[in-house]
Amino acid sequence: MIRSVVQGCGSYLPERVVTNEELSRTVDTTDEWIRQRSGICQRHIAAEGEFTSHLAIKASQRALDHAGLNASDLDLIVLATATPDQTFPATATRVQAALGMTKGAAFDVQAVCAGFVYGVSVADSLIKSGLASTALVIGAETFSRILDWDDRGTCVLFGDGAGAIVLRGEQGAGTPADRGILANALHSDGRHHDLLYVDGGPSSTRTTGFLRMEGKEVFKHAVVNMATVVGEVLEKAGLEAKDVDWLVPHQANKRIIDGTGRKLGLPPERVVVTVDKHANTSAASIPLALDVAVKDGRIKKGDLLLLEGIGGGLSWGASLVRW
Ligand code: UT7
Repeated sequence: MIRSVVQGCGSYLPERVVTNEELSRTVDTTDEWIRQRSGICQRHIAAEGEFTSHLAIKASQRALDHAGLNASDLDLIVLATATPDQTFPATATRVQAALGMTKGAAFDVQAVCAGFVYGVSVADSLIKSGLASTALVIGAETFSRILDWDDRGTCVLFGDGAGAIVLRGEQGAGTPADRGILANALHSDGRHHDLLYVDGGPSSTRTTGFLRMEGKEVFKHAVVNMATVVGEVLEKAGLEAKDVDWLVPHQANKRIIDGTGRKLGLPPERVVVTVDKHANTSAASIPLALDVAVKDGRIKKGDLLLLEGIGGGLSWGASLVRW
C-alpha cells in the first residue's frame, strides 16, 4: 500500500521578538499573568510588508533543502492558513510561483489552529488516491494582523511564523512499523462558532476584522476534545499511548498541552513544547514545534509522533506519524 512518508521539514520565524515585558508597556498585562495562564514568554511578530506568503516561502525552501528535493519534484502544495495575503487567490499559489513549481496544484486549507493537521490529512489522502505524489504541507500565519491590540484577553497570546513538511508517496507493507502517516482523524462542530472567530470578512463586513475568543470556554473544549481525538487516532492505527515517542501538540497553552500529555501517560520530556518562545501561531505551531525537535536531534527516524490541534470552528484533529 502507498504511505505518505515525511522527507524533510523546515520553519521560519520573523526576526522581531516581542517579550511579555515589552507588551506590558502598551497593554494592561504583566509578564507573570501571561506566563502563569499560558506558558508564553515571547512571540515573533512579522515586519511591515512581511506577509504570510513570505514566511511560508522561507519555511518551504528549508523543508525542501532538508528533504534534498527541488520545487520541480513537487506536484502538490497545501497551505494551512487563516491569515492569507489576500482573500484570493490562495496564498499557496504565491508560494508555488516563488519556489518555481509549475506542475500540479496549490491551494489553501482553512481550519485555523487545526489547519496543519487538516493539511496533512488532505495531502495524505491525495497521495494515497494517486492524485499527487510529492506534497509540501505548510502552516503559515501572521496573526498579529488580526489581533485587537486593545483586547488584553487575546493579543498577548498569539505570534507569527511558518513551518512545512515534505511528504512523498512510497510503497510500504502497511504495518505500524512502516514510516509515514499512519492515521488521521478530523472533526468540527460549527455550533461553537461564537467561542473563537474573526468579526469581519469579505462577505459579511467587507473588512478583515479582529480575533474574538471566549478563552475559558475554548480551554474546556480543548482539554476534552484533545484527549478524545488522540485516543481515536491511536485506535485507528492499532497502537497504544505507550507506543508514542513524541507528542507534538498545537501550541496554544502550556496547561492544555500538559493535560493531554498526562492523559496519554507521557512524561513531560516526551512532549515538544515551544509555546514559551513562539506563543500561539495557529496553523504554524505544529510544524514549527516539529522542526525544532527534529533539528535539535530529539525526534529521530522511526519515532512515533502524535500531532494534534484545535481551533476556531470549533475544528480539531490528530495525525499519527512514523517519522
Ligand atoms: O489556538 C486556538 C485555541 N485556543 C486556546 O486553546 C485558548 C484556550 N484558552 C486559554 O488558553 C485560556 O483560557 C487563556 C490563557 C486565554 C485565559 O486564561 P484563563 O485562566 O482562562 O483566564 P480568564 O480568561 O478566566 O481571565 C482571568 C482574569 C480575568 O480577570 P477577572 O475577571 O478574574 O478579574 C481577566 O480579565 O484575568 C484577566 N485577564 C488578564 N489579566 C492580565 C485576561 N487577560 C489578561 C491579561 N493580563 N493579558
